Amino acid sequence: MSANPRVADYAINDQFIQRWSPRAFTAEPISEETLLSFLEAARWAPSAYNSQPWRFLYARRDTPNWERYLGLLNEFNRSWAQHASALVIIASKTTFTAPGASEETPALWHTFDTGSAWGHLALQASLSGWYTHGMAGFDQALTRKELKIPEGYDLHAAVAIGKLGDKASLAEGLQAREVPSPRRPLSELAAEGDFNL
Ligand SMILES: Cc1cc2nc3c(=O)[nH]c(=O)nc-3n(C[C@H](O)[C@H](O)[C@H](O)COP(=O)(O)O)c2cc1C
Repeated sequence: MSANPRVADYAINDQFIQRWSPRAFTAEPISEETLLSFLEAARWAPSAYNSQPWRFLYARRDTPNWERYLGLLNEFNRSWAQHASALVIIASKTTFTAPGASEETPALWHTFDTGSAWGHLALQASLSGWYTHGMAGFDQALTRKELKIPEGYDLHAAVAIGKLGDKASLAEGLQAREVPSPRRPLSELAAEGDFNL
């Protein structure tokens, strides 16, 4: 690994490297307008048949929903995400109505599409000076019940959004991990022609 693990091997826009997932947040409030601008970016993601399967549920700190949402996270994630400004739960609709069809059928690409929307969200937040941190560590069954998510929707991730805080505010074990992470080389991930990865 090089001294700075966050260097692109090929020419790309800086935004892709600038985005990273911290755990130290400042606990400042976020306006609904700002939060919705991140979800707006997600809305413009591509999806199969333009079916737009993604769904976003959110709570902002200092609002009545905040404690309810925090309670969905596992203990580890709650320990740092409690200082975030917003929490978003990302779900997707598992069926869709194909063009010309009258009935819903399984949407085979809803997870792929929704991952793309999350990427838009994270990049827009980063471009606006905010930070996001995706979390698999939340209670899916409890989230379904607590937020009244109906059948036919899958749950994917929770996301903490906030302004970058001082890493000294984190528990000691987490301070060392509060750095942008490296990536595997592209040659391990992409091949021309046959799969030889
Ligand atoms: C779907 C998803 C789930 C994740 N779950 C957690 C989590 O539960 N707790 C956590 O601290 N980080 C979690 N992360 C953060 C990843 O570890 C992080 O994005 C990854 O190490 C890459 O680092 P970077 O985002 O700073 O580039 C998750 C990220 C994603 C996209």
